[in-house]
Amino acid sequence: METHSRPRRTWATLAVLAIAAAGAACGGSPEPQSGTPATTGGHDGKIIVSGASGQLGRLVIDDLLARGVPASDLILVSRTPEALEEYAQLGASTRFGDFAQPESLPEAFAGGTRMLLISIGFGDIPRPQAHKNAIDAAVAAGVEHIAYTSYVAISRGDTEGLAADHYQTEQALKESGVSWTMLRNSIYSNGQLQTAAKMLADGRAIVPAEEHPIGYVTREDCAAAAAAVLTTPGHENMAYDITGPELIGVREIAAAATAVTGKPIELVPAKPGEEEAPRAFGGPGISVVSGDVEALTGRPPTSLRELFETNKDQLLAAAG
Ligand SMILES: NC(=O)c1ccc[n+]([C@@H]2O[C@H](COP(=O)([O-])OP(=O)(O)OC[C@H]3O[C@@H](n4cnc5c(N)ncnc54)[C@H](OP(=O)(O)O)[C@@H]3O)[C@@H](O)[C@H]2O)c1
Repeated sequence: METHSRPRRTWATLAVLAIAAAGAACGGSPEPQSGTPATTGGHDGKIIVSGASGQLGRLVIDDLLARGVPASDLILVSRTPEALEEYAQLGASTRFGDFAQPESLPEAFAGGTRMLLISIGFGDIPRPQAHKNAIDAAVAAGVEHIAYTSYVAISRGDTEGLAADHYQTEQALKESGVSWTMLRNSIYSNGQLQTAAKMLADGRAIVPAEEHPIGYVTREDCAAAAAAVLTTPGHENMAYDITGPELIGVREIAAAATAVTGKPIELVPAKPGEEEAPRAFGGPGISVVSGDVEALTGRPPTSLRELFETNKDQLLAAAG
């Protein structure tokens, strides 16, 4: 089994070889247009990345650079642009922008052609309003294409709970008049390292009576898919399900943790009302696996076992 021990940039560089095929081969779903103008597609003009100093934002920037996008073609928008000094040194434009302060956005987005709108976390301002502020400002600034980091359950019709903010943002984006791409990300698998570490430390895992397995995806694969959409043609008004390669529940997390560390984990059926966490992400709408990451990036998404292998030391330390 491949361990993904190679540097991520190597993968990103390899992905460049698949650029020509990616746009044509993607399995994403075309959705009805909403008065959208035609765009040229591919890398053309300056690319805005919002949330640039966040975890996903930084990975996307690194992938864009690895794909050969000149730093001078990047507009990196953040509430803390000073945290992006390394990219400013390379020639990127680093700018202040806060979706909760719409007056900051025209200057932040000026000159951009394509944009990755990274969804914000829960904060002082309702997320759909914050995202609409960003969309409106981008349209006013002349941005032609916006890719948005959405949520995978929307593809199965979920519009409430965790999906609600993303659904409302998707609607605003579709009504905005620009062309768009929905990157409907699944839940990050990176967080399952903590889940596995706890299982290993406890030597047991509680299995819920009813569980909706999740197509967990690494943040790195989400970033690679976003970079592909921003730099290759053919993604206008497409929605992609950005998932890992397999559906994962408690049993699969425990099995992967044991396979990597050698430490057994006892599976204990939940008592009524106990340990509902695996269902916290909503209903069956989250149980989605797609081929879109591979179609976009030219390589299969990282499995949970591969993620655990890459972080084996952390898991062995937890196993004691
Ligand atoms: N799929 C999942 O499992 C999962 C899990 C957690 C979160 N998410 C979603 O995915 C997004 C990206 O994930 P991540 O790991 O990169 O999260 P992250 O490290 O928390 O980054 C999110 C970034 O959003 C930006 N942001 C927050 N409030 C903002 C505002 N008012 N105006 C403009 N930008 C604002 C910030 O960028 P600056 O600091 O540079 O301003 C922040 O660093 C999250 O924000 C969340 O919506 C998904």
